[in-house]
Amino acid sequence: MGINKRSFDTLIIGAGGGGLRAALQLSQAEARVAVVSKVFPTRSHTVAAQGGVNAALANVLPDNWHWHMFDTVKGSDYLGDQDAIEYMCRAAPRVVYELDHFGVPFSRLDNGRIYQRAFGGQSRNFGGEQAVRTCAAADRTGHAILHSLYQQNIRAKTHFFDEYFAIDLVRDQEGYFLGALAIDIASGEPILIEAKTTILATGGVGQLFRTNTNALINTGDGMAMALRAGIPLQDMEFFQFHPTGIAGKGMLITEGARGEGGYLLNSAGERFMERYAPNAKDLASRDVVSRAIATEVREGRGAGPDKDHVLLKLDHLGADIVKSRLPGIRDTAMTFLHIDPAETPIPVYPTAHYTMGGIPTDRYGQVVVPVQQGAEEPVPGLYAVGECACVSVHGANRLGGNSLLDILVFGRAAANHVIEHLKDQRYHRPIPEGASDAAMDRLARWSKQGKGESVAQLRVALAKVMEDHCGVFRNEEVLQEGQNKVLALRERLNEAYIDDYSQVFNTARIEAMELENLMETAIATVTSALARRESRGAHSRIDYPERDDQHWLRHSLFSLEGNKMDYKPVRMKPLTVETFPPKKRTY
Ligand code: FUM
Repeated sequence: MGINKRSFDTLIIGAGGGGLRAALQLSQAEARVAVVSKVFPTRSHTVAAQGGVNAALANVLPDNWHWHMFDTVKGSDYLGDQDAIEYMCRAAPRVVYELDHFGVPFSRLDNGRIYQRAFGGQSRNFGGEQAVRTCAAADRTGHAILHSLYQQNIRAKTHFFDEYFAIDLVRDQEGYFLGALAIDIASGEPILIEAKTTILATGGVGQLFRTNTNALINTGDGMAMALRAGIPLQDMEFFQFHPTGIAGKGMLITEGARGEGGYLLNSAGERFMERYAPNAKDLASRDVVSRAIATEVREGRGAGPDKDHVLLKLDHLGADIVKSRLPGIRDTAMTFLHIDPAETPIPVYPTAHYTMGGIPTDRYGQVVVPVQQGAEEPVPGLYAVGECACVSVHGANRLGGNSLLDILVFGRAAANHVIEHLKDQRYHRPIPEGASDAAMDRLARWSKQGKGESVAQLRVALAKVMEDHCGVFRNEEVLQEGQNKVLALRERLNEAYIDDYSQVFNTARIEAMELENLMETAIATVTSALARRESRGAHSRIDYPERDDQHWLRHSLFSLEGNKMDYKPVRMKPLTVETFPPKKRTY
């Protein structure tokens, strides 16, 4: 019996903000769009974004996109591509006003304008006083955005494959991407979704780490699909640890808490960020604050009986501010810690949060691969947006509030590029015989019953290895050991089976394929980290403590075949303004 097949102009894999913003643009242009999502769309991880989206609206203090661009380049530790950063910062006000018109219930200032709060790494006048740039819907901004985008897509008649898992991409001999093989999670039926263009929007891979802010679904599916299709992943060594996860548990306590005036204390009650970042203090960029917290704990100034965390103090803000501006994190603290942050400081520690690296793209969302020294070419029919992509606007360290912006700006930009492409692409290219065989084999491998290690235990083991060997501070020996352990776990997964297949729900197969995806992205992450012998942004090597622009001001590219590293230049030239040349980065 043949596989069921459906045909669309564009297939979007992932229904977070990036996927839904792209889908909306396309559906409104009357393209036939399918969105495949392994969870119901409004459960996608964008729903968890708290503090807000950056745009230089100047609703509270003077601001402009050029200052935003400077902060983003500096925040990236000069590894971000300046053409893409300029594009994003200029587009920011427009995409935020669009959201307002789509019905996103932004919080409001007394004068009725969109509420904006201060976030880390923001400045006025190219490094001057703190800016106030993050547009917020209380501390549930991602929730508000995702629900509005979903509703707009329903109105625009986007077709959703809810609770379908994409297994692998399908392409022809000339390298054109033609859609993907997916599985209906409930029934286990495979389906071939044929498309003239495919957009990967599958989010990040926070599940690599034991303690993280991410949804369980963040298993790097799109990144691993790209790797298996021979596309390298860019800058995977740069993984962001958010400074304020609930200690030991990892749930996110928004940077907006510090933006509203909260601050960090060590066991001596000292406001220690004054030592690490005398100007920006608690609103220095995330890599700086995370390292400061980890250092306080390592040097014995941690709070609590085990001295293993620091405290986030909010009680001085008053209950009204905490309840109106930070209701979500108050709920989280009350649920998981049984404390009210309006009265008691929250124990916090850095927690894995965001994948800066990903599938390399240009600023139109086209996936690009190197063709010869320094030059690259778009991969026909394939796009990537959001956290699974690396465009690269975040470089070595993302600024808070720039991830929601990234998904909106590049979801929209990729869709606009696809719309143009579709004008010349009236017919589907034929899918060759056997094009989905590799994906079907992957599915079949997890349909065989046998005895072996449990997939769930291997996932726990992987997350522990990554946490122990690829955390905030790294060195050669620890990374090398980590790489060996990840490679060994990958081998062990080859011997694993789903025990007694008749007794398990179909989701066991999905979990096994998710673990394969995690293994592949883990190898990419630890191998890239081992290779980069400098400290830049979130990649902090205690054996190479300095940034080394002479040798390392370049993007890394990891290929699965042979676990090989390659490099390419940073796009230093913006679109219309002068380059921001690398400088020593202080806050
Ligand atoms: O802290 C936060 O609210 C997270 C925001 C972000 O990662 O952009």
